[in-house]
Amino acid sequence: TTHWIKAIAHADVPEDDVIAVQVGDHEIALYGVEGQVYATDNLCTHGNARLCDGFLTGHEIECPLHQGRFDVRDGRALCSPLRENVATYPVRIEDGMVFVGM
Ligand code: FES
Repeated sequence: TTHWIKAIAHADVPEDDVIAVQVGDHEIALYGVEGQVYATDNLCTHGNARLCDGFLTGHEIECPLHQGRFDVRDGRALCSPLRENVATYPVRIEDGMVFVGM
């Protein structure tokens, strides 16, 4: 079953940008894109880099270390050197708060 964990105020999710939050034991990256909020693991699947330090363009987050890109909607790895998708999490907005499903 999905546990919904309160992460951050919706207003604190930057539009067209990414912010890292601690959700339980996980460090999660939250992305604000066109009024929607998306969540992925913050750690790149290729190496020791945090996606919150990368660059968000539309729905694509570019890793700061080797410029691998993921689609934040489904975690799909879009280019080399990435070989593994990044985990995504469902997001719910309630009472102005962002909840992440784990
Ligand atoms: Fe992210 Fe290499 S660590 S692309």
